[in-house]
Amino acid sequence: MANQDDKFKKVISHAKEYGYVFQSSEIYDGLSAVYDYAQNGVELKKNIRDYWWKAMVQMHGNIVGLDAAIFMHPTTWKASGHVDAFNDPLIDNKDSKKRYRADVLIEDYCAKIETKIEKEVKKAVKRFGEAFNKAEFMSTNPRVLGYQEKIESTLARMAKSLENEDLADVKLLIEELEISCPLSGSKNWTDVKQFNLMFGTKLGASAEHAMDLYLRPETAQGIFVNFLNVQKTGRMKIPFGIAQTGKAFRNEIVARQFIFRMREFEQMEMQFFIKPGTQKKWYEYWKETRMKWHLSLGMGADNYRFHDHEKLAHYADAASDIEFKFPFGFKELEGIHSRTDFDLKAHEEHSGKKLQYFDHEDNKSYTPYVLETSIGLDRMFLAIFSNALQEETLENNTTRTVLKLPSVLAPFKAAVLPLVKKDGLPEIAKEIVDMLKWDFNVAYDEKDAVGRRYRRQDANGTPFCITVDHDTKKDNTVTIRHRDTMAQKRVKIEELKEIIKEEVEIRSWLMKMK
Ligand code: GAP
Repeated sequence: MANQDDKFKKVISHAKEYGYVFQSSEIYDGLSAVYDYAQNGVELKKNIRDYWWKAMVQMHGNIVGLDAAIFMHPTTWKASGHVDAFNDPLIDNKDSKKRYRADVLIEDYCAKIETKIEKEVKKAVKRFGEAFNKAEFMSTNPRVLGYQEKIESTLARMAKSLENEDLADVKLLIEELEISCPLSGSKNWTDVKQFNLMFGTKLGASAEHAMDLYLRPETAQGIFVNFLNVQKTGRMKIPFGIAQTGKAFRNEIVARQFIFRMREFEQMEMQFFIKPGTQKKWYEYWKETRMKWHLSLGMGADNYRFHDHEKLAHYADAASDIEFKFPFGFKELEGIHSRTDFDLKAHEEHSGKKLQYFDHEDNKSYTPYVLETSIGLDRMFLAIFSNALQEETLENNTTRTVLKLPSVLAPFKAAVLPLVKKDGLPEIAKEIVDMLKWDFNVAYDEKDAVGRRYRRQDANGTPFCITVDHDTKKDNTVTIRHRDTMAQKRVKIEELKEIIKEEVEIRSWLMKMK
């Protein structure tokens, strides 16, 4: 745990030190769970959004984009169920006065048992060496089986109690598991209560005539209310999808863990409209396709897993999370939800407008079913950033901090460095920047010794450093150094564009999804 905490602290301080993420309104001591993306962060975030947009919208003939407003008619949220059911179960510790999500306390308890299982596996690997068979060990070791049974029964009971709105049993479960307040260690808990997560605001100039509005808690509803507009004007045929990225707002209770859980965040969502009865097929298809998208970034299959939901949201008939191994353990990164016709039917009912599709092949109208993929952009940012941050011990026993971002997402693709600040080298370096900047985001850096500049670019995640030296003047060649291998090669200036392109272009990364 201590190690995980240390790693996470390093991630947060690196994000600040290298201009990726700042606390919002820091000069006023910050605003809790609200963050600003700085000069490098905004580039990384944009690149992740572009990578998603390319894969989800531009690579699919039957998926189109949308940019709906954040403000929506308030009845939207009555129809969607958010006014009545978008609640978190809350519990307060009477001694520390700290407020927690009851389900998160229980999930954290289970995560600790999970850590115990991992320890047992590590011990067994040491004991059995080469002969170790993990699957067999997990299915036969009595201690591991006991831990697994504890996790399963605990989560199943929690899911059932939440489903039945039996909040007294959720509290009882916390007491039976002897869960204590992480801050004070006290087990003195209040009852569990429901708390609505939407932020309210007002539209209009005068208090009497103002209309109560909500800041959208998800982007999906902007897609549902535009379903027919897009279908008709785009002449879309089922199955088809509408995708959008944009801000969402939730008054989160457990607003810790940096940009993992924010009060203002960005979602990348796609609603795929399908024929009723085909939802199982599309659910599997999108689970597989979204996992392939993640794996294409090369962050290691071991870092991902599916978690199929036991407690389904009010709109879903099946749901699964893609979980990622964050520095604080496996947590939800993306949701794939089979949302049935819940949303379109609810909007039909509340608006009095028909939201149906006429299927020319079947010669009949129906309300489409919907398959949703929904990922938090900030959470994806954290997954990528925390996985990329590494401390390496080099051959000469020095260490280097390197941010091994997938190069397609790196804020700067190359930094051009004149070896010295004289002899015409800066001029040549700036000419190279001018040549490359049409195709890539390129940095220029002339301050400090070249070794320090390499380290700075490593820590910033820049895949290539291009050094201009005195030989450049003679033969038009430069040294190109790779961030991950630190290998250096002498190449012609005119070869640079192709070398960089080969490594950073979206095409070669997304090809890995095939
Ligand atoms: N339209 C469905 C929906 O909103 P969700 O599971 O509540 O489903 C989808 O959210 C994704 O949005 C999550 O998997 C997560 O990546 C991201 N997300 C949700 N709440 C968040 C928060 N408070 N801060 C950052 N990301 C969040």
